[in-house]
Amino acid sequence: MAVYILGIETSCDETSAAVVRDGRQILSSVIASQGGEHSKFGGVVPEVASRKHLEWLNPVLQEALERAGIGWHDLSGVAVTYGPGLVGALLVGLSAAKAIALALDIPLLAVNHMQGHVLANWLEEPLPELPAVCLVVSGGHTDLLLLRGLCEFELLGQTRDDAAGEAFDKVARVLGLGYPGGPLIDRLARQGDSRAIEFPRAFLEEDSLDFSFSGLKSAVINYLHRATQQGVAVNRADVAASFQQAVVDVLVEKTMLAARRCGVRQLLLAGGVAANSALRSALERAAAQQGCRLACPPPVLCTDNAAMVACAGYYKYLRGDFAPLTVNAVPYLEPGQDAY
Ligand code: KG4
Ligand code: ZN
Repeated sequence: MAVYILGIETSCDETSAAVVRDGRQILSSVIASQGGEHSKFGGVVPEVASRKHLEWLNPVLQEALERAGIGWHDLSGVAVTYGPGLVGALLVGLSAAKAIALALDIPLLAVNHMQGHVLANWLEEPLPELPAVCLVVSGGHTDLLLLRGLCEFELLGQTRDDAAGEAFDKVARVLGLGYPGGPLIDRLARQGDSRAIEFPRAFLEEDSLDFSFSGLKSAVINYLHRATQQGVAVNRADVAASFQQAVVDVLVEKTMLAARRCGVRQLLLAGGVAANSALRSALERAAAQQGCRLACPPPVLCTDNAAMVACAGYYKYLRGDFAPLTVNAVPYLEPGQDAY
């Protein structure tokens, strides 16, 4: 009998619901993006995010079921992100999922958002092989993980300050591009010269698999201030391209180092910044040179979405790893961790 998992994602500024059949087939994926609600503030305002989730979640759920062509009673389980994320935002999705699980008497599957990002790679053909090294780059995280099993993550390295996506968003703000900044920098950079400005690359200690992007962010801000003070015109496309190249160089080099060190040939890319076109092509090239295979979800499954949550929930369903209805939202949760 087919397993139908409803996924719910409300950890940040996307209100999303999806129905996935047998962990592979996306029957529906509805993503209501709040980007426009937050753009005038230059970043996500937590209180606004929670209120919008409350307003949008019921219609989004309804649409997800309608598009999937199934009824509530066809569902086998309900999967929901319970952390990490904004606590007020998480609570909206979690409360809805608990109500659905209770009302339909189906398992509640509590999903770590970072695990959801990684498992988005299991929604695509061909399925990745394990073990694998995964680079997860989002608005809140920059992690290098070793996956021994589907739910067995070892943290190899992480950012010591800003996440990669955070750096994209902050640089976009100082360039006056808007929010979220990643896609806007990605687009503008195509018209610029990535070698025009030599921004710093923080490789940290030799052999370190950690990251740091705050120095790069400050270098871009200082460059723009200096140009303003000196009355020099700034080529914003060159700044965007040079900044993006500095981020990509570090991400690619450390991912390849992690693969060599772990003796792994399968690489995975995940998280919102994985939608970046320069990162995808640079990592693809580097992987091929090193005899590795790279899996990367399509851009729409890289940024926050509920299909990835349903997919991760499916594997919890198969293992019988059900969460109690008392499970709480956990704003800080490490990638390989569960807290229920
Ligand atoms: O995974 P995600 O949707 O949400 C979090 O869990 O944080 O990631 C959002 C981040 C934002 O910082 C956004 O600017 C960045 O992903 N992003 C991109 C691109 N698309 C989204 N960064 C660079 N290039 C892109 N094309
Ligand atoms: Zn995310």
